Amino acid sequence: MNMKKWYKAAEERCSIRKYSAPPTDYEITQLIMLAEQISGNGIRIEVMREEDVFSTGLIKQVITGTDCFAAIIEKNTAQPFMTGYIGEAFVLECTLLGLGTCWLGASYKRSAVLSKIDLSEDEKLRCIISIGRSGQEFSRRKRKNLRQLMKLDSEDFDREIAQMAPWQLAAIKCAQIAPTAINAQPFMLEVLENSVCVMNTGWNFGYGMVDCGIAMLHIEAGAAFDGVFGKWVMKDNVMRFESISED
Ligand SMILES: Cc1cc2nc3c(=O)[nH]c(=O)nc-3n(C[C@H](O)[C@H](O)[C@H](O)COP(=O)(O)O)c2cc1C
Repeated sequence: MNMKKWYKAAEERCSIRKYSAPPTDYEITQLIMLAEQISGNGIRIEVMREEDVFSTGLIKQVITGTDCFAAIIEKNTAQPFMTGYIGEAFVLECTLLGLGTCWLGASYKRSAVLSKIDLSEDEKLRCIISIGRSGQEFSRRKRKNLRQLMKLDSEDFDREIAQMAPWQLAAIKCAQIAPTAINAQPFMLEVLENSVCVMNTGWNFGYGMVDCGIAMLHIEAGAAFDGVFGKWVMKDNVMRFESISED
Protein backbone atom coordinates (compact mmCIF):
# COMPACT_ATOMS: atom_id res chain seq x y z
CA MET A 1 0.00 0.00 0.00
CA ASN A 2 1.58 3.22 1.25
CA MET A 3 4.87 1.82 2.59
CA LYS A 4 6.89 4.89 1.60
CA LYS A 5 4.40 7.34 3.12
CA TRP A 6 4.31 5.27 6.31
CA TYR A 7 7.97 6.09 6.99
CA LYS A 8 7.13 9.82 7.21
CA ALA A 9 4.02 9.03 9.26
CA ALA A 10 6.13 6.90 11.63
CA GLU A 11 8.38 9.89 12.28
CA GLU A 12 5.41 12.18 12.93
CA ARG A 13 3.43 9.82 15.20
CA CYS A 14 3.41 9.74 18.96
CA SER A 15 0.75 8.33 21.29
CA ILE A 16 -2.12 10.78 21.76
CA ARG A 17 -4.14 10.38 24.95
CA LYS A 18 -5.75 13.84 25.11
CA TYR A 19 -8.05 14.62 22.18
CA SER A 20 -9.84 17.85 21.25
CA ALA A 21 -12.61 16.02 19.34
CA PRO A 22 -13.54 12.63 17.89
CA PRO A 23 -13.15 12.20 14.11
CA THR A 24 -15.98 13.73 12.02
CA ASP A 25 -18.68 11.48 10.52
CA TYR A 26 -16.93 11.80 7.14
CA GLU A 27 -13.61 10.74 8.69
CA ILE A 28 -15.28 7.81 10.42
CA THR A 29 -16.64 6.62 7.06
CA GLN A 30 -13.07 6.88 5.67
CA LEU A 31 -11.69 4.98 8.68
CA ILE A 32 -14.26 2.19 8.27
CA MET A 33 -13.28 1.78 4.60
CA LEU A 34 -9.60 1.85 5.54
CA ALA A 35 -10.14 -0.77 8.25
CA GLU A 36 -11.83 -3.06 5.72
CA GLN A 37 -8.95 -2.62 3.25
CA ILE A 38 -6.23 -3.28 5.83
CA SER A 39 -7.94 -6.20 7.63
CA GLY A 40 -6.63 -9.64 6.61
CA ASN A 41 -4.31 -12.49 7.62
CA GLY A 42 -6.63 -13.38 10.50
CA ILE A 43 -6.89 -9.80 11.80
CA ARG A 44 -10.13 -7.81 11.66
CA ILE A 45 -10.33 -4.09 12.51
CA GLU A 46 -13.68 -2.56 13.49
CA VAL A 47 -14.04 1.21 13.89
CA MET A 48 -16.80 2.54 16.14
CA ARG A 49 -17.80 5.07 18.81
CA GLU A 50 -18.78 4.23 22.37
CA GLU A 51 -18.56 6.78 25.17
CA ASP A 52 -18.27 4.20 27.92
CA VAL A 53 -15.06 2.63 26.52
CA PHE A 54 -12.71 5.24 27.99
CA SER A 55 -14.60 6.07 31.21
CA THR A 56 -12.74 4.24 33.96
CA GLY A 57 -14.92 5.07 36.99
CA LEU A 58 -12.90 6.09 40.03
CA ILE A 59 -9.51 5.47 38.43
CA LYS A 60 -8.08 8.46 36.51
CA GLN A 61 -9.23 8.34 32.88
CA VAL A 62 -6.25 7.88 30.52
CA ILE A 63 -7.97 8.75 27.23
CA THR A 64 -10.02 11.96 27.12
CA GLY A 65 -11.80 13.96 24.41
CA THR A 66 -12.83 11.14 22.07
CA ASP A 67 -15.16 8.15 22.07
CA CYS A 68 -13.84 6.68 18.81
CA PHE A 69 -11.68 3.59 18.63
CA ALA A 70 -10.65 0.69 16.44
CA ALA A 71 -11.03 -2.80 17.93
CA ILE A 72 -8.31 -5.19 16.79
CA ILE A 73 -9.78 -8.67 16.61
CA GLU A 74 -7.52 -11.69 16.18
CA LYS A 75 -8.40 -15.16 14.88
CA ASN A 76 -6.91 -18.02 16.94
CA THR A 77 -5.02 -19.14 13.84
CA ALA A 78 -3.42 -15.72 13.16
CA GLN A 79 0.36 -15.51 13.42
CA PRO A 80 1.21 -13.84 16.75
CA PHE A 81 2.93 -10.78 15.23
CA MET A 82 0.10 -10.07 12.77
CA THR A 83 -1.97 -7.88 15.15
CA GLY A 84 0.97 -5.48 15.47
CA TYR A 85 1.78 -5.51 11.76
CA ILE A 86 -1.80 -4.86 10.57
CA GLY A 87 -2.74 -2.58 13.48
CA GLU A 88 0.29 -0.33 12.93
CA ALA A 89 -0.56 0.01 9.22
CA PHE A 90 -3.93 1.31 10.38
CA VAL A 91 -2.29 3.65 12.94
CA LEU A 92 0.04 5.15 10.32
CA GLU A 93 -2.85 5.62 7.87
CA CYS A 94 -4.71 7.51 10.63
CA THR A 95 -1.60 9.70 11.06
CA LEU A 96 -1.66 10.44 7.32
CA LEU A 97 -5.32 11.47 7.68
CA GLY A 98 -4.25 13.97 10.38
CA LEU A 99 -5.70 11.95 13.26
CA GLY A 100 -4.05 11.06 16.57
CA THR A 101 -4.05 7.50 17.93
CA CYS A 102 -2.92 5.44 20.91
CA TRP A 103 -2.53 1.66 21.06
CA LEU A 104 -4.32 0.42 24.19
CA GLY A 105 -3.85 -2.97 25.78
CA ALA A 106 -5.08 -1.99 29.23
CA SER A 107 -6.39 1.58 29.61
CA TYR A 108 -9.94 0.94 28.40
CA LYS A 109 -13.11 -0.80 29.50
CA ARG A 110 -12.94 -4.18 27.79
CA SER A 111 -16.56 -5.09 28.66
CA ALA A 112 -17.82 -1.93 26.89
CA VAL A 113 -15.98 -2.94 23.69
CA LEU A 114 -17.15 -6.57 23.92
CA SER A 115 -20.76 -5.38 24.19
CA LYS A 116 -20.38 -3.57 20.84
CA ILE A 117 -18.67 -6.24 18.71
CA ASP A 118 -19.67 -9.71 17.51
CA LEU A 119 -16.89 -12.22 18.02
CA SER A 120 -17.03 -15.66 16.44
CA GLU A 121 -15.84 -18.66 18.46
CA ASP A 122 -12.36 -18.61 16.95
CA GLU A 123 -11.79 -14.87 17.53
CA LYS A 124 -10.63 -12.74 20.44
CA LEU A 125 -10.38 -9.02 21.13
CA ARG A 126 -6.62 -8.35 21.30
CA CYS A 127 -6.48 -4.60 21.99
CA ILE A 128 -7.93 -1.32 20.78
CA ILE A 129 -6.61 1.93 19.28
CA SER A 130 -8.13 5.27 20.34
CA ILE A 131 -8.65 7.76 17.49
CA GLY A 132 -9.41 11.48 17.36
CA ARG A 133 -8.16 14.99 16.71
CA SER A 134 -5.05 15.56 18.81
CA GLY A 135 -5.35 17.94 21.75
CA GLN A 136 -1.71 17.71 22.82
CA GLU A 137 1.75 18.66 21.61
CA PHE A 138 3.90 16.16 19.72
CA SER A 139 6.46 14.59 22.03
CA ARG A 140 8.91 11.79 21.27
CA ARG A 141 9.40 9.32 24.12
CA LYS A 142 12.93 8.18 24.76
CA ARG A 143 13.96 4.92 23.09
CA LYS A 144 16.78 2.38 23.50
CA ASN A 145 19.67 3.34 21.25
CA LEU A 146 20.49 1.23 18.18
CA ARG A 147 23.46 -0.40 19.87
CA GLN A 148 21.24 -1.60 22.73
CA LEU A 149 18.65 -2.88 20.27
CA MET A 150 21.33 -4.79 18.36
CA LYS A 151 22.97 -6.03 21.58
CA LEU A 152 26.48 -5.29 20.31
CA ASP A 153 29.59 -3.92 21.99
CA SER A 154 30.79 -0.51 20.76
CA GLU A 155 33.43 -1.90 18.44
CA ASP A 156 31.12 -4.39 16.65
CA PHE A 157 28.37 -1.80 16.50
CA ASP A 158 30.61 0.80 14.80
CA ARG A 159 31.78 -1.80 12.29
CA GLU A 160 28.24 -2.99 11.50
CA ILE A 161 26.88 0.53 11.09
CA ALA A 162 29.73 1.36 8.67
CA GLN A 163 29.06 -1.78 6.63
CA MET A 164 25.28 -1.79 6.38
CA ALA A 165 23.38 -0.53 3.34
CA PRO A 166 21.47 2.80 3.66
CA TRP A 167 18.11 0.95 3.44
CA GLN A 168 19.12 -1.25 6.39
CA LEU A 169 19.99 1.78 8.50
CA ALA A 170 16.67 3.44 7.56
CA ALA A 171 14.88 0.18 8.48
CA ILE A 172 16.42 -0.22 11.95
CA LYS A 173 16.00 3.50 12.73
CA CYS A 174 12.32 3.20 11.87
CA ALA A 175 12.02 0.07 14.07
CA GLN A 176 13.65 2.04 16.90
CA ILE A 177 10.76 4.55 16.98
CA ALA A 178 8.04 1.87 16.80
CA PRO A 179 5.53 2.10 19.66
CA THR A 180 5.56 -0.82 22.12
CA ALA A 181 3.51 -1.59 25.24
CA ILE A 182 5.00 0.34 28.21
CA ASN A 183 7.73 1.46 25.78
CA ALA A 184 9.59 -1.78 26.60
CA GLN A 185 10.90 -2.47 23.05
CA PRO A 186 11.07 -6.24 23.70
CA PHE A 187 12.99 -7.15 20.57
CA MET A 188 16.49 -7.48 19.22
CA LEU A 189 17.53 -6.33 15.74
CA GLU A 190 20.14 -7.97 13.58
CA VAL A 191 21.46 -6.79 10.22
CA LEU A 192 22.74 -9.45 7.80
CA GLU A 193 23.66 -9.33 4.13
CA ASN A 194 20.48 -8.29 2.25
CA SER A 195 18.26 -8.69 5.31
CA VAL A 196 17.15 -7.25 8.64
CA CYS A 197 15.95 -9.56 11.45
CA VAL A 198 13.70 -9.06 14.48
CA MET A 199 13.75 -11.45 17.44
CA ASN A 200 11.33 -11.26 20.36
CA THR A 201 13.11 -10.87 23.71
CA GLY A 202 10.27 -10.46 26.20
CA TRP A 203 6.67 -11.36 27.04
CA ASN A 204 5.82 -7.73 27.89
CA PHE A 205 2.47 -8.40 29.59
CA GLY A 206 1.40 -10.56 26.66
CA TYR A 207 2.17 -7.90 24.04
CA GLY A 208 5.73 -8.95 23.13
CA MET A 209 4.80 -10.40 19.74
CA VAL A 210 2.37 -7.53 19.00
CA ASP A 211 5.32 -5.18 19.62
CA CYS A 212 7.47 -7.26 17.23
CA GLY A 213 4.78 -7.04 14.53
CA ILE A 214 4.73 -3.25 14.89
CA ALA A 215 8.54 -3.18 14.56
CA MET A 216 8.26 -5.39 11.44
CA LEU A 217 5.99 -2.90 9.73
CA HIS A 218 8.41 -0.10 10.63
CA ILE A 219 11.35 -2.09 9.18
CA GLU A 220 9.49 -2.50 5.91
CA ALA A 221 8.51 1.18 5.84
CA GLY A 222 12.12 2.23 6.47
CA ALA A 223 13.39 -0.04 3.68
CA ALA A 224 10.71 1.21 1.28
CA PHE A 225 11.62 4.81 2.07
CA ASP A 226 15.09 4.01 0.76
CA GLY A 227 13.60 2.30 -2.32
CA VAL A 228 13.97 -1.32 -1.18
CA PHE A 229 11.15 -3.86 -1.13
CA GLY A 230 11.25 -7.44 0.03
CA LYS A 231 9.58 -10.32 1.80
CA TRP A 232 9.38 -11.73 5.33
CA VAL A 233 10.82 -15.16 6.04
CA MET A 234 10.05 -16.73 9.45
CA LYS A 235 12.34 -19.32 10.98
CA ASP A 236 12.91 -20.44 14.58
CA ASN A 237 11.31 -17.32 16.11
CA VAL A 238 13.38 -15.05 13.87
CA MET A 239 11.44 -12.75 11.53
CA ARG A 240 13.77 -11.90 8.64
CA PHE A 241 13.04 -9.21 6.05
CA GLU A 242 14.93 -10.07 2.84
CA SER A 243 15.33 -7.44 0.14
CA ILE A 244 14.21 -8.58 -3.30
CA SER A 245 14.02 -5.41 -5.37
CA GLU A 246 15.08 -1.78 -5.50
CA ASP A 247 12.98 0.85 -7.28
C1 LIG B 1 0.49 -3.20 22.28
C2 LIG B 1 0.48 -1.84 22.97
C3 LIG B 1 -0.33 -1.64 24.07
C4 LIG B 1 -0.36 -0.38 24.71
N1 LIG B 1 -1.20 -0.18 25.75
C5 LIG B 1 -1.28 1.04 26.35
C6 LIG B 1 -2.20 1.27 27.42
O1 LIG B 1 -2.93 0.39 27.86
N2 LIG B 1 -2.25 2.53 27.97
C7 LIG B 1 -1.47 3.55 27.49
O2 LIG B 1 -1.58 4.67 28.01
N3 LIG B 1 -0.58 3.36 26.47
C8 LIG B 1 -0.48 2.14 25.89
N4 LIG B 1 0.38 1.94 24.84
C9 LIG B 1 1.19 3.06 24.31
C10 LIG B 1 2.66 2.95 24.72
O3 LIG B 1 2.79 3.30 26.08
C11 LIG B 1 3.49 3.89 23.82
O4 LIG B 1 3.39 3.48 22.50
C12 LIG B 1 4.96 3.90 24.23
O5 LIG B 1 5.12 4.43 25.53
C13 LIG B 1 5.82 4.72 23.26
O6 LIG B 1 5.38 6.06 23.19
P1 LIG B 1 4.92 6.70 21.82
O7 LIG B 1 3.80 5.85 21.26
O8 LIG B 1 4.44 8.08 22.16
O9 LIG B 1 6.07 6.69 20.86
C14 LIG B 1 0.45 0.68 24.21
C15 LIG B 1 1.27 0.45 23.10
C16 LIG B 1 1.29 -0.79 22.48
C17 LIG B 1 2.14 -0.99 21.27
